[in-house]
Amino acid sequence: MRFVALFALLSLAACDGTSADDTDTGAGTDTSSDTGSDTASDMAGPSWANDVQPVLNDFCGSCHGGTSCPSGVCWLEDYAVLTGAASATVCAGSTIAECIPVRILDGSMPRNGACPPGSPGCMTQDEFDTLQAWVDAGAPNN
Ligand code: HEC
Repeated sequence: MRFVALFALLSLAACDGTSADDTDTGAGTDTSSDTGSDTASDMAGPSWANDVQPVLNDFCGSCHGGTSCPSGVCWLEDYAVLTGAASATVCAGSTIAECIPVRILDGSMPRNGACPPGSPGCMTQDEFDTLQAWVDAGAPNN
């Protein structure tokens, strides 16, 4: 599942970034698009629906998705909630979207045990970077 998402991301980057390939004279610049960790984020930016929500669904959906949404924590099905203010306890002054990477990094989410990106059973560093890039882009509903 994660590999599929990553592949989709890379494919997206390739589509967006190398549209000149057809007319390329083979000057050797093509490979540069594969070297960085920038993937789609420098092109169109990560997509909420395609890149971010699936990762959060995998690792956070047991509590933040579904039909029971205690105190508004069910943001996986309701994008509008993400743009609202996070509770003051941890992320005062932030939106809930901005609070997502904060709570992953401080180890308070997922709530059933810290899960640092890149650790076994947790989201990969690439997945976290995608999530962070989406937040940095203003958490668009794209
Ligand atoms: C075991 C259940 C559970 C899991 C899994 C879980 N959460 Fe939470 N989350 C909660 C509860 C309960 C709250 C409300 C209390 C709090 O803020 O600690 C919450 C609150 C939050 C908030 C703050 C909302 C606000 O209004 O301030 C964020 C952000 C958040 N979670 C992100 C995540 C992310 C990201 C993941 C996945 C990596 C995750 N959570 C996984 C139970 C969970």
